[in-house]
Amino acid sequence: MPKPFMNTPPKPEKLGAMTAGFLQEAFAGESQASQKYLAFSARAADEGLPNVARLFDAVAYAESTHARNHLSVLGGIGDSSENLKEAFGGETFEIDQMYPAYDAVADLQGAKEARTSIRYAKSAEQDHQALYEATRAAVQTGEDMAAGPINVCPICGHTVIGDAPAECPVCGTAGQFFRTF
Ligand code: FE2
Ligand code: FE2
Ligand code: FE2
Repeated sequence: MPKPFMNTPPKPEKLGAMTAGFLQEAFAGESQASQKYLAFSARAADEGLPNVARLFDAVAYAESTHARNHLSVLGGIGDSSENLKEAFGGETFEIDQMYPAYDAVADLQGAKEARTSIRYAKSAEQDHQALYEATRAAVQTGEDMAAGPINVCPICGHTVIGDAPAECPVCGTAGQFFRTF
């Protein structure tokens, strides 16, 4: 019988500054490649090329393993309580500083679509911030998050616990198109 699958990416180790910097850059690059290929897959599917879509999906997953491995070696994967705290911090930075600053510049430069993209993201980050905060409180008492569907808008990323709304309150997409996790 084959051994059961174990999630064993390369382990954290003490790194010299150059190696740590290169792994950070490679983590960013692999993450971006993975996301780019998912977007390319969706385009291929729209163009009636399901097997090209499948190729992009497969390679996107492969790139995600590279990103995960680099992050692991960098020591960026903790236990779930730590990870929820880290995730909360990232969302909070985006809400309080990053997106407000980016939006101010986009406004000055008259970048309308960029402002829409920023607004979608900032709004969804607020959903995530709240969800991570509530979930961390549960995990710290040894509980898992409550079971039940989590629904995500495919356009703006609005994230809700429970059933999808009839219409996304942020971007107007019909709830039937939400993706359920
Ligand atoms: Fe890669
Ligand atoms: Fe987020
Ligand atoms: Fe939406």
